Amino acid sequence: MVVKSEAILEFELPSAAATARLGEALAGLVDVGDLILLRGDLGAGKTTLARALVQAHLARHGLAEDVPSPTFTLVQTYESPSLLLTHVDLYRIEDASELRELGLAEALDEGVVLVEWPERAEEEMRRLSPSRLDISLFLVPEGMHRARIEATGSWTARLEGLTI
Ligand SMILES: Nc1ncnc2c1ncn2[C@@H]1O[C@H](COP(=O)(O)OP(=O)(O)OP(=O)(O)O)[C@@H](O)[C@H]1O
Ligand SMILES: [Mg+2]
Repeated sequence: MVVKSEAILEFELPSAAATARLGEALAGLVDVGDLILLRGDLGAGKTTLARALVQAHLARHGLAEDVPSPTFTLVQTYESPSLLLTHVDLYRIEDASELRELGLAEALDEGVVLVEWPERAEEEMRRLSPSRLDISLFLVPEGMHRARIEATGSWTARLEGLTI
């Protein structure tokens, strides 16, 4: 792990298991109202990270569930005794009205929202929450995948000492 600055961390992800470990590590830090943006090209590992985070959170409550990619459904939700997890994929979204139907503001009131392809609705994401965790995943052909995490708000303190 490389600490670029107080608010920017970088991790090398030599395997899908490493991407999953990053998701699992973040599962211990999430709270109601967290907006987590997962950026990166097709196949960079966004779903792998989100799935691991959701499953690790559910496991903390003794729950187990399949976590399919929301590519076609746009949104999948998971409920634990402590919060609601909403996993969204905006890749196929065509306009902002579709986004409103997803009810992300309400979902944030009740829990954590994980968004794949936030680039599709950057403006709406900005309006949704001032405190966000921005995770960019890089797929390096014939090289190691990497993650770059940018923290704002309370995330800076929460990420201190994060290891995978
Ligand atoms: N660090 C990694 N190293 C190698 N392979 C990885 C890594 N992370 C994930 N993968 C693998 O890459 C493939 C694509 O992962 P995933 O579906 O999570 O990508 P995605 O970013 O969600 O793609 P999409 O943009 O299509 O939603 C999967 O087979 C996954 O196991
Ligand atoms: Mg995906």
